[in-house]
Amino acid sequence: MFNELRKYLKKPELYAPSSGKFWDDEHISKGMLEAHLAPHRNAATRSHDFVDKSVEWITSIAPPIKFQQLLDLGCGPGIYAERFHKAGYKVTGIDFSKRSIEYAKKQTLLNKSNIQYYYKDYLTIDYVEQFDVITLIYCDYAVLSISDRQKLLNKVYQALKPDGKFIFDVFTPSMRKPESRSWYYSEKSGFWSDKPHICFEAVYQYDDDDKTELTQTIVITEDTIHCYNIWNHFFTRESLVSEIEPIGFKSLEFYGDVAGKEYSDSGETICVVLTK
Ligand SMILES: C[S@@+](CC[C@H](N)C(=O)[O-])C[C@H]1O[C@@H](n2cnc3c(N)ncnc32)[C@H](O)[C@@H]1O
Repeated sequence: MFNELRKYLKKPELYAPSSGKFWDDEHISKGMLEAHLAPHRNAATRSHDFVDKSVEWITSIAPPIKFQQLLDLGCGPGIYAERFHKAGYKVTGIDFSKRSIEYAKKQTLLNKSNIQYYYKDYLTIDYVEQFDVITLIYCDYAVLSISDRQKLLNKVYQALKPDGKFIFDVFTPSMRKPESRSWYYSEKSGFWSDKPHICFEAVYQYDDDDKTELTQTIVITEDTIHCYNIWNHFFTRESLVSEIEPIGFKSLEFYGDVAGKEYSDSGETICVVLTK
């Protein structure tokens, strides 16, 4: 135990993997689903008021009468997807949290909204000119490495019909956290474990071109140690242009958030709308 713990106390190599699943973990996904469904929190999903505004804005830039087929990547339990359906889109949702997808499937049956949900890694999609709009909301693009981002952009481009739109958001460098280390003890079940546990939390910054940040949580129970490495990246308009331009989209537009706020150099997020 001592030796295993000690190896986690130094800064990890870039992209060192977690020792277990995060979004799809049996226990963690319970807390995550609660966070998605909490209407006033900006946690796994943004506050539901923001989601309403966001769907209204997306509907205004890609009206469902013309842009019928919508694919929501990382759809979670369908907070956006159900609203997209109500707005008039034919919706497909993909997520690799089994718990979220099971919840979303129950909701679509209850609401008779006929949304197609798939429990799947969105990096493995293989659609050809099937969708008018593809969304990836709440800065999920930013967790991917540059090679996965290129892979996803190419797959999205292939999946869009001509004139189709890809809408996603990212954090700007103003959201980079200072490096830190802290710990806490939880006597009972908490977000990370259903047993009494100690958490070592750390934020590490990397000096690579991609402005990589790691938020690491080591979760120690009486008989287990798990390490969760959550990688993140931060973008400027210029860095986005240079990685997106080679893909071939005919237009790139930038906004301050995924509800259509005006773009500003000092904003916390950038929303990108790409047209094929
Ligand atoms: C921050 S949440 C955002 C959920 C949703 N877009 C929203 O705003 O309500 C990220 C979601 O993406 C999913 N996810 C992350 N990486 C994924 C991948 N490679 N394939 C499929 N789903 C993924 C997670 O399971 C989680 O539900």
